[in-house]
Amino acid sequence: AEYETILVETRGRVGWITLNRPEALNALNTQVMREIVAAASAFDADTAIGAIVVTGSERAFAAGADIKEMESQTGLDMVMGDHFGGWADFAAVRTPVIAAVSGYALGGGCELAMMCDIILAADSAKFGQPEINLGVIPGMGGSQRLIRAVGYYKAAELILTGRMMDAAEAERAGLVSRVVPAAELLDEAGTVADTIASKSLPSLYAAKAALDAAMETPLAEGLRFERHVFASLFDTADQKEGMAAFREKRSPDFQNR
Ligand code: HXC
Repeated sequence: AEYETILVETRGRVGWITLNRPEALNALNTQVMREIVAAASAFDADTAIGAIVVTGSERAFAAGADIKEMESQTGLDMVMGDHFGGWADFAAVRTPVIAAVSGYALGGGCELAMMCDIILAADSAKFGQPEINLGVIPGMGGSQRLIRAVGYYKAAELILTGRMMDAAEAERAGLVSRVVPAAELLDEAGTVADTIASKSLPSLYAAKAALDAAMETPLAEGLRFERHVFASLFDTADQKEGMAAFREKRSPDFQNR
């Protein structure tokens, strides 16, 4: 596929998507959304890929949805503009996705990071939902996912004031998985992604589905879902291989089935 706003690369079993609109601090316009969704879906359909990394530049992961593209839109335009379905497709990717965030992750950029499963932050990262400064509110999940990540009071303060928080505050708040020195961000993301991609795909898909269920369901329903999916993995060859390898004190050789 030909992409204009992102760079796409495969390294081993890991698919890399790098946002590449430096002139707009990687602002997420409709084309960027379509390209990210297309690239992530293509990786997701490929069993040679076991993890996806989404990253931006040193200065910006993404400074939000493209304000210049949105400015003249009506409410109906926003509904009809396919913004929401596109991002839902990205969030529905089965393969684990790591956001490697350096610099600004604001508005839609913060929301894109929160659609990923792991958020690794450079110590230079800045997170925020500044939409209130523009007379609007988060529109790609910010008001819902941020609360689940950091709790009501932290999320409300960020969304109502529009202020940014640095990487250390984001880590304390539980928005990021881990903070690393900026110079090590991509290496560290690669290491985490390689580790994940070395596991059995059916168990990775199951783990992500169970994590997603935890975000969306009451506890009793989530526990039922977990038990069902846990049991189903005992019909995979990789469960037999993983447990035999433990017993035989060797590394497992997973076949992704
Ligand atoms: C369009 C953007 C942009 C954005 C930056 N740019 N953010 N263009 N949409 N979200 C452009 C600038 O216009 C400028 O281009 C260039 O990128 C560099 O940005 P500067 O502002 O000159 O850089 P700096 O002074 O370093 O400030 C960085 C910044 C600031 C603090 C990140 O750019 C900023 O506040 N950006 C907007 C952040 C924001 O409000 N995001 C939320 C968007 S709403 P030119 O050509 O003009 O020099 C949102 C809603 C999601 O995300 C829901 C959608 C469905």
